[in-house]
This record gives sequence, C-alpha cells and structure tokens, in this order.
Amino acid sequence: MYNLTRRRTALLLSLFLVNIIITKATASDEKEAHIQVAESACEGTFYRDLCVSTVSTFPDLASKSLPQTICSLLNHTVGEVTSSSYNCTGLRKGLRNLSTMEKRALDDCIALFDDTRTELATTISDLNQTTIPSRRHHDSQTLLSAAMTNLYTCLDGFAYCKGSHVRERYLQDKLFQISNHVSNSLAMLKKVPGVKKPSKSEVFPEYGKMKGHFPTWITNKDRKLLQASVNQTKFNLVVAQDGTGNFKTIADALAAAPNSSTTRFVIHIKAGAYFENVEVIKKKTNLMLVGDGIGKTVVKASRNVVDGWTTFQSATFGAFSFLLSSSSFYCHVFST
Ligand SMILES: *[C@@H]1O[C@H](CO)[C@@H](O)[C@H](O)[C@H]1NC(C)=O
Ligand SMILES: *[C@@H]1O[C@H](CO)[C@@H](O)[C@H](O)[C@H]1NC(C)=O
Ligand SMILES: *[C@@H]1O[C@H](CO)[C@@H](O)[C@H](O)[C@H]1NC(C)=O
Ligand SMILES: *[C@@H]1O[C@H](CO)[C@@H](O)[C@H](O)[C@H]1NC(C)=O
Ligand SMILES: *[C@@H]1O[C@H](CO)[C@@H](O)[C@H](O)[C@H]1NC(C)=O
Ligand SMILES: *[C@@H]1O[C@H](CO)[C@@H](O)[C@H](O)[C@H]1NC(C)=O
Repeated sequence: MYNLTRRRTALLLSLFLVNIIITKATASDEKEAHIQVAESACEGTFYRDLCVSTVSTFPDLASKSLPQTICSLLNHTVGEVTSSSYNCTGLRKGLRNLSTMEKRALDDCIALFDDTRTELATTISDLNQTTIPSRRHHDSQTLLSAAMTNLYTCLDGFAYCKGSHVRERYLQDKLFQISNHVSNSLAMLKKVPGVKKPSKSEVFPEYGKMKGHFPTWITNKDRKLLQASVNQTKFNLVVAQDGTGNFKTIADALAAAPNSSTTRFVIHIKAGAYFENVEVIKKKTNLMLVGDGIGKTVVKASRNVVDGWTTFQSATFGAFSFLLSSSSFYCHVFST
C-alpha cells in the first residue's frame, strides 16, 4: 500500500515533470519564434538591437503585418516622447537655478515634443489603414524625418547655454533612443511593398516641376551624380564622425570647400547624427552634400541660420543628397 502510494506519487511527479519540460519547451519555442519575427521585421534597420529588443515585446507579433508592426513601434515611441515631455515639464519647474536660455530651451523642447507626437500620431493613423496608397508612404517618410529633426532641434537649443548640463544629464540619452526608434521605423517603412513605387506627384511642391523623378532645375550632370550609388560617386571631401574622413564636422568641410566654385563640389557626409549650426555662405556655390540615407545621416542646422534643412533621401539608392545653388537652398526626396 505504502509502496503503491509512493509509486503513484513518483509517477505523478514524473508526469508533472514531463509536463513542465514540455510546457517550458513550447514556451521557449514560442519565444524563439517571436524573436525571429522581430529580427526579420528589424532586418535592415540601423539600430538593430534596439529594434529587436523593442519589437519583440509586442504581443501577437506573428499576426501583424509590417505596417502594423511599424504602427506599434511608433505607438511605443509616442509613449517615450510623452514621458520625456513630462520629464521636461518637471525639470522646468523643479530645477532651481536654470538660466533664461535653459528655460527657453526646455520650453522649446516641450513644444517640439508636442509636434513630434502629432507627426508620429499622423503617421500611425496613415499606416493603420487597410489600403495604403504609396503616396501616403512618402508623406510618412517626410513626417518621420520631421519628427527626428524636432528631437535634434530640442537638443540644439542647449548649444547656446554655456556650462549647462541639462542636455547631457537629463535629455540626451533618452532623445537619442527616441530618434533611433524613428530611424528604425523609417528603415522598416522602406521595406513595405509599394514604398519605392514612383510618385509622379511632387512631394514638396515648392521645389518645382518634376521631370523623370527629378525636379527640372537639376541638370543632367547632377542627375547622374544623384543616380550613382554612394560607392560610385567621387567625393571631393568626406565627413565622418569616427575620423575616417577628411573632417569630423560638416562645418569644417564647408569651410574647406572652395568659394565661388564653377564646378560641382561633392561632400560625402557619412552616417551619424550631426548637430551643427551649419551656415552655408553664399560664396559656396556648386556644392552637393550626399549622406548615407534617411535615418542614417541626420543633419540639423540651427533654425536661425538656414531654415529648412532636413533629411531626405533617394529611395532607390538609400542616399540623400542636396544641392545648393548660388542663392537658395533646395532639397527634394528623389524617388525612382
Ligand atoms: C489600428 O486600428 C485598429 C482599428 O482599425 C485599432 O484597433 C488599433 O488600435 C490601431 N492601432 C494603432 C497602433 O493605433
Ligand atoms: C500604445 O501604447 C500605449 C502605451 O504607451 C499602450 O497602452 C497602448 O495599448 C498602445 N496601443 C496600441 C494600439 O498598441
Ligand atoms: C527623466 O528624468 C530623469 C531624471 O530626473 C532621468 O533619469 C530620465 O532618464 C528621464 N527620462 C526621460 C524619458 O527623459
Ligand atoms: C546651480 O548653478 C551652479 C553654477 O552654475 C551649480 O554649480 C549648481 O550645481 C547648481 N545648483 C543646482 C541645485 O542645480
Ligand atoms: C556599390 O553598392 C551597390 C549597392 O549598394 C552594390 O551592389 C555594388 O556592388 C557596390 N559596388 C562596389 C564597387 O562596391
Ligand atoms: C571663402 O570666403 C570666406 C569669406 O569671405 C573666407 O573667410 C574663407 O577663407 C574663404 N575660403 C576659402 C576656402 O577660400
């Protein structure tokens, strides 16, 4: 009797163990599968680890389409922007000896976070529709680029606050992370079918009429330059933050670029986030700046110096380029 009970217990115990092992195996298989889905969604993003660790926390990942996954990532990002905004409001009230400039910069950040949230929310509602015309994708790319630019504008505000630690101590790391989420969303967006389809309409109407996917003011020669992939283009100067180029800052490269050049001078700005108050003097004619792609090379100039700097790209070659004529600044999303 005693033996029987013990045997039953043993049997039950072993069944129980087998059960646990099976349950565990299934759970870890599921987790593995979940991470695989996240990894495939994050393929091609610039901040891949951040992407996978974030996306793999989303439930029902396997049943989500890529646009839905991007929506979830953007929704997650909105949450982080909201918490940073609360944080800034808290800092603004709580930090005792803020200078006037720091107060102004924090106020700017709070307003810019609001804009960022609106841009992300608009993108979410655009993407979260059953039928998405490719036109919308272009709008989404523009909105997400604007959202990133706003984050850097917030950080830029502290450039004028001498000796301030507010940016480094409270804002920078979190804002880089948020910006990296947006960069990842942009990279994922590019993989959505239809995104690279030609758009005959003008993305930025103010840049003039389009001919063969380029604005008409772009010469054939420049068109060839823009159509070449980054590794085929001959650059006059290279800017790289890691010291592998001729200069580490865009400002230094611009200073070295010839004045009143009669031939096209091409500067390659390698991947990185450049917060520079870049001023392009009118003497710098015939200049072309080429980046490594949207969300990879991010340039933010002071709003006070050159309005309208933004990131943009060639959807085909993953490089953004902009041209400066003698008197105006032009930019355009090139898509072929
Ligand atoms: C997308 O729309 C559906 C309803 O159509 C909604 O349930 C879902 O929450 C939306 N997703 C996001 C990220 O807003
Ligand atoms: C969006 O994010 C919030 C948290 O910031 C979460 O509560 C909400 O469920 C999310 N919505 C969707 C549709 O994923
Ligand atoms: C909020 O502020 C705290 C310090 O008060 C900081 O450690 C944290 O990183 C900030 N979080 C965000 C989301 O900005
Ligand atoms: C106030 O400012 C001084 C000098 O700028 C700084 O050393 C000090 O840490 C600040 N105090 C607080 C509470 O932030
Ligand atoms: C240049 O880049 C393209 C695509 O990025 C690639 O297919 C090609 O092999 C590269 N060419 C060279 C010479 O590295
Ligand atoms: C270009 O012109 C500016 C302003 O006149 C001058 O300071 C700078 O040295 C010149 N740069 C070159 C490369 O000649």
